[in-house]
Amino acid sequence: MVVNDQNKFQAIISHAKEYGFVFQSSEIYDGLSAVYDYGPWGSELKKNIREAWWNAMTRMHDNIVGIDAAIFMHPTTWKASGHVDNFSDPMIDNKDSKKRYRVDHLIEGVADALSKEGKTTEAEKLIADMEALLAANDYAGLKQLIDDNKMKCSVSGTCNWTDVRQFNLMFSTQLGSVAEDASEIYLRPETAQGIFVNFLNVQKTARMKIPFGIAQVGKAFRNEIVARQFIFRMREFEQMEMQFFIRPGTQQEWYAYWKAERMKWHESMGIPATSYRFHDHVKLAHYADAAVDIEFAFPFGWKEVEGIHSRTDFDLKSHQQYSGKKLQYFDTEINQNYVPYVIETSIGLDRMFLLTMCHAYQEEKWTKEDGSEDSRVVLKIPAKIAPIKLAVLPLLKKEGLPDIAKEIMATCRTEFYCFYEEKDTIGKRYRRMDALGTPFCITIDHQTKEDQTVTIRYRDTMTQERIPIQGLVAFIKSKL
Ligand code: GAP
Repeated sequence: MVVNDQNKFQAIISHAKEYGFVFQSSEIYDGLSAVYDYGPWGSELKKNIREAWWNAMTRMHDNIVGIDAAIFMHPTTWKASGHVDNFSDPMIDNKDSKKRYRVDHLIEGVADALSKEGKTTEAEKLIADMEALLAANDYAGLKQLIDDNKMKCSVSGTCNWTDVRQFNLMFSTQLGSVAEDASEIYLRPETAQGIFVNFLNVQKTARMKIPFGIAQVGKAFRNEIVARQFIFRMREFEQMEMQFFIRPGTQQEWYAYWKAERMKWHESMGIPATSYRFHDHVKLAHYADAAVDIEFAFPFGWKEVEGIHSRTDFDLKSHQQYSGKKLQYFDTEINQNYVPYVIETSIGLDRMFLLTMCHAYQEEKWTKEDGSEDSRVVLKIPAKIAPIKLAVLPLLKKEGLPDIAKEIMATCRTEFYCFYEEKDTIGKRYRRMDALGTPFCITIDHQTKEDQTVTIRYRDTMTQERIPIQGLVAFIKSKL
């Protein structure tokens, strides 16, 4: 089927809801903007992606260990990290509609429209001007750019704008039960700081030698002013971050190493390299001396899925200064004490989930041998991260077939996620499993009783063959 990208994206969002992957949070109360819940198959897929990342980082690297730090941290953490002073986005409000825009999104939207009209030079100039002004924190200049280009609000259609202002993206809450004693704390906007403040605890207790890394997966919270594109930009989301501590002066070499290593991981998740590209940052964050995004070709354009940042010694030095505690490492190879430099890899789990769904979602149509048309929606999720690995389907609900199927379930379910289904015709059950991304279905029929074989059906090719029940577990495991 031919779909334009926005149609495809809308179809993916509907599919995610209809098949129990992602629901709007608190839907019965009309939802909460930019907050989502994962359903039965979504939570399974998310867990599998999380595990794939965790294993690739920790189990496959001798010199990387994991932690699980608390979401709440001492408030000074966020002063030291720079988030209290710097973690804000330039915003602008339309005075007539009262709609608030992130300045970069407003300008990018106009540039997109220019590109679609074939005015690519103007579009490129607009983006280049914007990036230069953002890099210089020149808010008056950004306002001028918006005015000069007569940018309009999509709701009111007017150019009646406020000045450009900064809004901090951290959520705050009170710690303590009595209002007078309560102190303001933040919900962490990134997991990275939990790693930095534990640098010495981990280095000493796990006896790590530089270079080494600390990995963490966990929730992060940002009061995104303009939350868009389904689970792409959320207010509550999950990050998978790794801070790699290195000797100062070696950052270029390790930055290149992690760029290549992370791209290899993306390819190992079954996504071709052509769907990705690197995008170097023009405007560097306050902590970085180099930064690059790994971008993916989403149906709504090339967008960041992961960041690789050379964070220098900014964070450790700053925590050292604010806490008064030394955060240094004695390098026995060179007989020197120093504050390590850091290369960070930071990927959003929810974004990786969305990427996986976008890549996997396919609508197929074909002509059957009798000349009639057939079609299906299939999620071609790589088998190793698919929510359900094997569907066990007795052809009939009688004649002992369910008993054999349940015996097979009992053997297989301890090894990988299996799903038993006896309702509906076999064709309907196959289609449902295609829609959930189940790579293998086995059907138990009368021949099974005679020769202990089952029919296995492959999701991607829809081909079928008979295989013996004995050895089924090993067969499926070899495919995962
Ligand atoms: N510690 C560095 C850091 O947090 P970032 O570029 O702000 O860097 C890293 O975020 C990754 O986290 C992004 O590449 C993206 O995948 C994910 N992410 C950031 N904000 C997000 C949001 N509002 N919703 C979903 N994912 C988000």
